Amino acid sequence: MNRTSSIGVFDSGLGGLTVLQALKRQLPGESLIYFGDTARVPYGTKSAETVIHFSEQIVKFLLNRDVKMVVVACNTASSVALRKLQQMNEIPIIGVIEPGAKSAINTTQSNHIGVIGTTATIHSNSYTKVLKSINPEINVTEIPCPLFVPLVEEGWIDGSVPEMVAESYLAPFADKDVDTIILGCTHYPILKQTIKRVLPEGVSLIDSADAVSIEVKSKLQELNLLAVETEKPHHLECFVTDLPQKFEELSRRFLGQDLPDVKLVTGDW
Ligand code: DGL
Repeated sequence: MNRTSSIGVFDSGLGGLTVLQALKRQLPGESLIYFGDTARVPYGTKSAETVIHFSEQIVKFLLNRDVKMVVVACNTASSVALRKLQQMNEIPIIGVIEPGAKSAINTTQSNHIGVIGTTATIHSNSYTKVLKSINPEINVTEIPCPLFVPLVEEGWIDGSVPEMVAESYLAPFADKDVDTIILGCTHYPILKQTIKRVLPEGVSLIDSADAVSIEVKSKLQELNLLAVETEKPHHLECFVTDLPQKFEELSRRFLGQDLPDVKLVTGDW
């Protein structure tokens, strides 16, 4: 492993591509390997033990490809598995919770932050813990929105159905002084327009992707592992555990990303 090695990025499915996009913008010279566990999405309705097991398996897969760092581009896995992954592996492993929490703290004026995420993320209280460790005076209201992930994975991101779902989930924010809401699931930025439409005007939505990519860059700099653009041409490789064509098509439609040949991972991996 050296500075020309790739950065591994993983999520349960499509959502982590929102982080991949930010990494490509922030670190254009880096090679990236994306892993979407599309056969086992969603993670957010599963137990912590199961998500830890899946995450460990994926990190092993990425390490076999000699990655120099892993970005857990999934709030659910970051909430329940990050510490374990960091303890078990020598390479740096970066999650999405802390960077998102820091940007929300820098944004809020009312000191009341909302967090929306999967059931597993919300039940872990990971955001409340990090937000309160930065500022114990902060008020936090967390709401699970479990139907958002299947809507995105099905490509149903606008129109009356996602709007009704969003309205119903987000109604409790209306009578609170929440001025900043963390999109605590990497799938949610794909639904951003629908979410924005049903929230009171002026509420800021925090997507942690940019904050994560800045943290990745500074960690690579600190470890002297930042790729030198001229040293080796960079590349992007994508792996999924099911339906590569559907993954390619949805990524093109929602993120405008033309992915290189998405490879299917099968059998014992
Ligand atoms: N995109 C992931 C997250 O940020 C996982 C969603 C899911 O698989 O339930 O939580």
